[in-house]
Amino acid sequence: MKVMVVGARGMLGADLVKILSPLHRVIGVDNEEFDITDWPVTSSSMAEIGPDAVINCAAWTDVDGCERDPDRAFAVNARGAGFVARAAAECGARLIHISTDFVFDGRKRGPYTEDAAPNPLSVYGRSKLAGEGESLGYCPGCLVVRTAWLFGRNGKNFVDTIIKISSGRESIEVVDDQTGSPTYSVDLSGALAALLDRGTSGILNVTNSGHCSWWEYAAYIVDILGISCAVRPVSSERIGRPAPRPAFSILSTDRLEAELGHTLRPWREAVKEYIESTKPSGFSYLSC
Ligand SMILES: NC(=O)c1ccc[n+]([C@@H]2O[C@H](COP(=O)([O-])OP(=O)(O)OC[C@H]3O[C@@H](n4cnc5c(N)ncnc54)[C@H](OP(=O)(O)O)[C@@H]3O)[C@@H](O)[C@H]2O)c1
Repeated sequence: MKVMVVGARGMLGADLVKILSPLHRVIGVDNEEFDITDWPVTSSSMAEIGPDAVINCAAWTDVDGCERDPDRAFAVNARGAGFVARAAAECGARLIHISTDFVFDGRKRGPYTEDAAPNPLSVYGRSKLAGEGESLGYCPGCLVVRTAWLFGRNGKNFVDTIIKISSGRESIEVVDDQTGSPTYSVDLSGALAALLDRGTSGILNVTNSGHCSWWEYAAYIVDILGISCAVRPVSSERIGRPAPRPAFSILSTDRLEAELGHTLRPWREAVKEYIESTKPSGFSYLSC
């Protein structure tokens, strides 16, 4: 298949291009090739490439930035997603669109299944939910994949932040009142490759297995690094970020298991492998 990855230089897109490349003819595009908020350019670029499948990883993912600039958030995450979907439909290409756990309010005390009612708290969540609607509207047979708490080599992420801020510090403060499932962009990319082959459609949750609070997540990272930095729990209120986040956004992966015959590995294994793989050889975090 000729597979077009939109948002190919982002955290997920870059790993996805790498994983799909031995399997398909992959064309990665990002801001530099075309801006998805520009319909004439999006439509003509896609028609020129003529993909069999499009995986849309492009988004404005700065959650607090979106809160401050809703017009830009909706332009990229909603209207831009719609332009990608419309252009894919015009080419007859199959679409996979990536979405988020932030479409939920996090007030449920159990995992969100794919048919749970969304109720986003933030501009980012509302714009992403609108992007789901645009994608399903133009491509009713598409697959919308909801994922969460991504980390990976090619983007700003929590693991790298904790490695950076914990080094040489006696203690750090991390919120303990938000729970979710850290998800490795490499593992998500592997699942997307399998789902593309299967032709799965509808809404599907894909995260690594298990869940934790940001505080537990940070404590685990510091533990792997073997450094003596205390991780102190604090409330989201105390940190006071512009965009509200869901307190509990665990996504049920029962449908994923039914589709693929397995779930993704536990998040702890994935984080450990990520840290090991990004550490320069001979490097010790103890010497930071
Ligand atoms: N990161 C997370 O924790 C997380 C959690 C749940 C779901 N998701 C979803 O997963 C997907 C991938 O996220 P990610 O973390 O890989 O995002 P990312 O690293 O921010 O990558 C997104 C890419 O899209 C590009 N892009 C932004 N606006 C564009 C536009 N107007 N036209 C063309 N390209 C544009 C970005 O380019 P620039 O950098 O130049 O703007 C970037 O290369 C997104 O749909 C996101 O909503 C992410």
